[in-house]
Amino acid sequence: MINRRKFIALSAFSSAAALFTKKLPATGNVNVFNKGPIVVSTWDTGIEANKGAWKILSEGGRALDAVEAGVMVTEASQNCCVGLGANPDRDGFVTLDACIMDEFFNCGSVAFLERIKHPVSVARRVMEKTPHVMLVGSGAQLFAVAEGFPLEEQKLSPEAQKAYDNWLKQSEYKPVINIERTGNHGPSAPSKLESGEWNHDTIGMVAMDGKGNLSGSCTTSGMGFKMRGRLGDSPIIGAGLFVDNEVGACTSTGQGEDVIRIAGSHTVVELMRQGLSPEAACKKAVQRIVKIKGEKAKEIQVAFLALNKKGEAGAFAINKGFSYAIKSGTMEKLVPANSLF
Ligand code: GLY
Repeated sequence: MINRRKFIALSAFSSAAALFTKKLPATGNVNVFNKGPIVVSTWDTGIEANKGAWKILSEGGRALDAVEAGVMVTEASQNCCVGLGANPDRDGFVTLDACIMDEFFNCGSVAFLERIKHPVSVARRVMEKTPHVMLVGSGAQLFAVAEGFPLEEQKLSPEAQKAYDNWLKQSEYKPVINIERTGNHGPSAPSKLESGEWNHDTIGMVAMDGKGNLSGSCTTSGMGFKMRGRLGDSPIIGAGLFVDNEVGACTSTGQGEDVIRIAGSHTVVELMRQGLSPEAACKKAVQRIVKIKGEKAKEIQVAFLALNKKGEAGAFAINKGFSYAIKSGTMEKLVPANSLF
């Protein structure tokens, strides 16, 4: 699995970058004032995913290609709560959701998709090869197979198998997603697997290419041990992902029901349109959820991650523990986001 301690130590890789990095705040908004491409993605798994995206961005490629290639790294990794090795639903089946959106408001999405390794690529085919935005379930799978995607055998990762076996002992239906109990980002932070707290659900990625165009992607296995058929925010354009090439892009992670309730990613982009910085816009969306949930907000996690047209990135979460990975021509780092609690 990806080791948080390895990545937290990542540093800038040129002397100019080192100088620049010193000025960065320890948490929160990252003002990149970026002239070139940039990619940001959720959680520490985003570090590896960003490298996948960067291969395309650094060669002058399109943001759309970058955000697809980037999250494919995580979908293939078998060691995260994304992809075929991830937490199953309560009946033992891994069901995957993903979406993608480009700079022209083109978008595609798949949900409740089984036995396909790269749901994000199927979402892109939906966008490019059908007049529709969203395909679900067996229809999405039939479409994927017709497009040449192989049907894979479901193979839970050892961690997902262990977590599911543990869950089966009680079979209590109390799905919770992404609460990080330690909130500890330091080098001594236990890895999520060591501490038994690994429950990241999603990778969301937004990027700007060398031409200044934005795109985004989002892919997930959703809440562990969910009811069969349950969908969260991740495949829903406007909730788990939204891109407006004039303004910015946003993606989300955490308890999808509460992101859907406020059309979260769209809300953040609209707040940036009104002039808010990415972090301030994410914070306002988080506050909206907290106002709805009251005290119960302390029991859930939702985080938004946004990038604006100036190449400024920012994020905000309900609870401590959310971090995002950033990569540009001058920096590669994991940034702990600010939170309300
Ligand atoms: N954010 C992922 C989900 O709720 O399914």
